Amino acid sequence: MSAPAAGASATQPRPEVRTGLAAPTLASRRLAERFQDIEDLRREAKRRLPKGVFEFFDRGSEDEISLAENRAAFRRIKLRNKVLVDVSNRSPRSELFGKPLAMPLVVAPTGIAGLTWYMGELELARAAQRFGVPFTLATPSITSIETIAQVEGGRNWFQLYMWRDREASYQLVKRARDAGFEALILTVDTQVSPIREYNRRNGFNSPFTFNWKIAADVAMHPGWLLNVLLPYMRTTGMPRPIHYPKGSAGRATSGLAGMASAMRGDDLSWDDIARLREIWPGPMMIKGVHLPEDAERAVKEGLDGVILSNHGGRNLDGAVSPIEILPEIVAAVGNRTNVLIDSGVRRGSDILKALALGAKAVLSGRCGLYGTAVGGQEGALHALSILRKELDTSMAYTGCRSVDEAGPRTVWLGPETTLGRDR
Ligand SMILES: Cc1cc2nc3c(=O)[nH]c(=O)nc-3n(C[C@H](O)[C@H](O)[C@H](O)COP(=O)(O)O)c2cc1C
Repeated sequence: MSAPAAGASATQPRPEVRTGLAAPTLASRRLAERFQDIEDLRREAKRRLPKGVFEFFDRGSEDEISLAENRAAFRRIKLRNKVLVDVSNRSPRSELFGKPLAMPLVVAPTGIAGLTWYMGELELARAAQRFGVPFTLATPSITSIETIAQVEGGRNWFQLYMWRDREASYQLVKRARDAGFEALILTVDTQVSPIREYNRRNGFNSPFTFNWKIAADVAMHPGWLLNVLLPYMRTTGMPRPIHYPKGSAGRATSGLAGMASAMRGDDLSWDDIARLREIWPGPMMIKGVHLPEDAERAVKEGLDGVILSNHGGRNLDGAVSPIEILPEIVAAVGNRTNVLIDSGVRRGSDILKALALGAKAVLSGRCGLYGTAVGGQEGALHALSILRKELDTSMAYTGCRSVDEAGPRTVWLGPETTLGRDR
């Protein structure tokens, strides 16, 4: 019998261990019955969304080596039981930039996430607020900075793709600042447009444009047409990245490639950091770091964090998986700045592995997207609850009463893994 002893929880209430959310609604109970893990949500998202839309969210770039490797790298890391520790008062709560987190996770920025659900970005932001974690709005979002700012009590972060037109980018950053956003993430790993052949094969484009391929695809998903696309068309028009000036991504003919070229960052350099720092008063991070010397430089530039990321396997294919380089970067700068990682988190145990190797928190992109596609705000909340439940379970087995207790002894890196080689 592997279940925890009932006696421990009967004598000692453990409110922290549960999600801390309000009593489950009918919708949330139904979701909990039907979708046990993130993969269940992914399968249902696949069924609901047009193929072109689903693949845009789900897939990687080129041969999808990094996409697969992100999961494989987490799987290679093993956890160790720590026995006979009273974990009855454990809690996955954490803290970042002086504010509490319901668990050490941040909703990652994902462009055009509003195609998952009508006002999907707002629903996802509301779910994050209800759950108690920050939500990051991507530059290429369908929903505006000011609309997201209306989520009461929300910890909103803004992700910036720096445009060639610096002044236009600074205007966006000022809008996020004036709207009360808490933190700024400058994405530094999208120097050029990534190669994602399937978008072309599927006829998928952003702004969403009709061609015969996508029309046939949408016709086979009438639920998405009725509940997502038509409501947009009746209210704000064809969904498009709202922060992009018309004539760049806003022009129907420019499409994903046009958006990518407008968001082009191939002239971005360290020189840009100081100017952003002048405009942005709060915590600022860069996302897409792989090298210790870049992390060192980020510290020198006074940044509040570095995010190790390969963009969820969507940009440089063959890029290293962040979890594999985490120990190296933590050794270099972990005592001077916050090291966060993303790419491949699908289980709560993945979060624990990242914490054990020195991450302050993880970001997750696709988990929230799958959840939102399945059930809007409730679906996103369910995805977060699944991760937290799994994290809590892994913490109990590994003897961690708090996330700070996760450390090198929590994991086994093994002689076979790249992580283990220099240990
Ligand atoms: C559909 C999608 C769109 C994304 N759009 C952006 C974006 O606009 N800006 C950005 O910095 N990262 C973007 N990302 C990358 C995420 O912020 C994050 O790095 C990635 O999703 C992490 O991997 P995961 O999905 O395995 O959690 C996107 C990811 C996905 C899946």
